[in-house]
Amino acid sequence: MARRSRLVGVGGFLPERIVTNVELASKLDTSDEWIRTRTGITCRHIAAPHDTATSMGAAAAARALSYAGLKASDIDAILVATATPDQAFPATAVRIQAELGMTSGFGYDISSACSGFVFALTTADSLIRSHQAQRVLVIGSEVYSRILDWSDRGTCVLFGDGAGAVILSASESNDGRGILTTHLHSDGQLRDLLYVDGAVGQPEKSGKLRMSGRDVFRHAVEKLSSSVDEALSSCHLTRENIDWLVPHQANIRIIERVAKKLSLPADRVVITVDRHANTSAASIPLALDEAIRDGRIREGELIIMEALGGGLTWGTVLMRL
Ligand code: UT7
Repeated sequence: MARRSRLVGVGGFLPERIVTNVELASKLDTSDEWIRTRTGITCRHIAAPHDTATSMGAAAAARALSYAGLKASDIDAILVATATPDQAFPATAVRIQAELGMTSGFGYDISSACSGFVFALTTADSLIRSHQAQRVLVIGSEVYSRILDWSDRGTCVLFGDGAGAVILSASESNDGRGILTTHLHSDGQLRDLLYVDGAVGQPEKSGKLRMSGRDVFRHAVEKLSSSVDEALSSCHLTRENIDWLVPHQANIRIIERVAKKLSLPADRVVITVDRHANTSAASIPLALDEAIRDGRIREGELIIMEALGGGLTWGTVLMRL
């Protein structure tokens, strides 16, 4: 009997403040039209001073626990994907562990930028399959508003803040549900295409996000398409078997190209980029939360998740709900 990681809980948190393209255009040399047509974004949520990766991640986690009907003490491990932790250390995961009142288990952070959730989900699946954990809380939580250069129109209009969480639970059943396969990649030769200039180790630098948008776009379309093929062929599945694409939400044009490659109609693709913009590691769990709670994605359906981000890092997770 195969031991698999099954998704049993979802939760999300978005800061209260919504910033529209029109508001940005009143402060920056940009326009609602440019942002919408180039990216699909109309607005984004921006963190209040009291919102942090920990507070937002803990709020999303509490909602996922309640969805699953579980208590924090039922969780064995917390993995947090974030590029914007509250502190260099301790990890955001242990801060969330404390916020949730968990006195057992363990937690650590994963740094893979926008691919972070896919990397964290893969790690959580490995912990479960290797019997090191029975239930894992996987969180993506990001406050990119604090690492954006608000004078750079080429990047600051693209991102938003938020957190999403899922709970994976070990299942020994033979019903085919759970994570079927995961595929991760990175290419450090491409690290200068998307990065944060400085951090605690380089305090003399600005600590702001820098991106060669056009190059990242090209790599995203190419690498995500081949990563999706890789995942399908490893399970002897074809694109006709896919019920849902739940992609990282960076740009509607990238998402549409991957959906076209999979021959998926628009109503089989979960989109949040229009309202959330790019929330980095939080974007996939926020999209899952929305589409599972509103009943679009149903038990037994096959979901493909994919993401590409700074590193470059990229990967795919194939899961039957
Ligand atoms: O999540 C991590 C992964 N990130 C991504 O996947 C992002 C990938 N890249 C993209 O989504 C797109 O490349 C962008 C949305 C960032 C840019 O779209 P683009 O169609 O590649 O535009 P571009 O960078 O080639 O810029 C076209 C023009 C430039 O002007 P010139 O040189 O043609 O005169 C830019 O200066 O658009 C200008 N521009 C803007 N104009 C108005 C750049 N940003 C803006 C802006 N408003 N906000």
